[in-house]
Amino acid sequence: MNYRHAFHAGNFADLVKHAALLDLLAHMPRPLSVIDTHAGRGLYDLSGAEAQRSGEAQAGIGQLMQAGDLPAALQPLRTAVGQLNGGGATRLYPGSPLLIAGALRKGDTYLACELRPEEHAALTQALTPWPAARTVCADGYGEAAAKLPREGEALVLIDPPFEKSDDYRRCVEALTAIAAKNPRAVVMIWLPLKDLETFDSFVRDAEDANVGPLLIAEARMRPLTDPMKMNGCALVLARAPAGMAQTLQSICDWTVGALGQGGSARIWTAT
Ligand SMILES: C[S@@+](CC[C@H](N)C(=O)[O-])C[C@H]1O[C@@H](n2cnc3c(N)ncnc32)[C@H](O)[C@@H]1O
Repeated sequence: MNYRHAFHAGNFADLVKHAALLDLLAHMPRPLSVIDTHAGRGLYDLSGAEAQRSGEAQAGIGQLMQAGDLPAALQPLRTAVGQLNGGGATRLYPGSPLLIAGALRKGDTYLACELRPEEHAALTQALTPWPAARTVCADGYGEAAAKLPREGEALVLIDPPFEKSDDYRRCVEALTAIAAKNPRAVVMIWLPLKDLETFDSFVRDAEDANVGPLLIAEARMRPLTDPMKMNGCALVLARAPAGMAQTLQSICDWTVGALGQGGSARIWTAT
């Protein structure tokens, strides 16, 4: 496992995922159980060597914080990042754990799973202020099915590094297991968009899981001509709440238009 999210924190793909996540957290009924299968370290220092070397945060959250035309769907993310930085320069970026923990309400629970011991140690420290947030240093796919409550409102974020080809298969298996255990659970899977064959094949496999309609948001940042590059990202949602399609359209339209290079946004439903 070589993946380090510190190189990518605050990039365009984090913006799409985190804006959608905040919208789900704001609108889902309570009490809510949240499971984050691939949590990362929870908090990222954008002045650190990794972020400085990649430049991805500057091209992502750096632009968002300055944007004059930010749509309402991205405002909560700007507010959260602004608060984390005390209204000053954007040096810190919250991972999904801090965003989720900050949105918890009385009676909610949150389980953050992270496999890498050093990332898990940082995650545990980052979540110290939130007693309702628990962490586990374990495989998130297995934890999601095992720890998901059988009843009640639930939200599962599946955000793997996709450094191994079996992440696609394991996402579909997790989707199937989660729906079987708690049919009310809302699931949001993040995926990279490199080439359309890989993505289409994933969507077909996810459709075969028969978990109901899948809401799909594609932020293609540039034409998908070079499959070696991450040309964009996608979110695949099961049991997406009403109104989510418009929110995703707004998030992806802005991200592609402001940060992309001749790409396009596409929101559609697979059944
Ligand atoms: C894309 S990052 C997560 C980013 C985080 N969800 C966020 O939005 O801030 C993926 C993380 O998954 C971890 N990881 C890899 N395989 C895992 C597995 N099977 N179970 C749990 N965590 C895993 C990696 O160490 C990495 O920190």
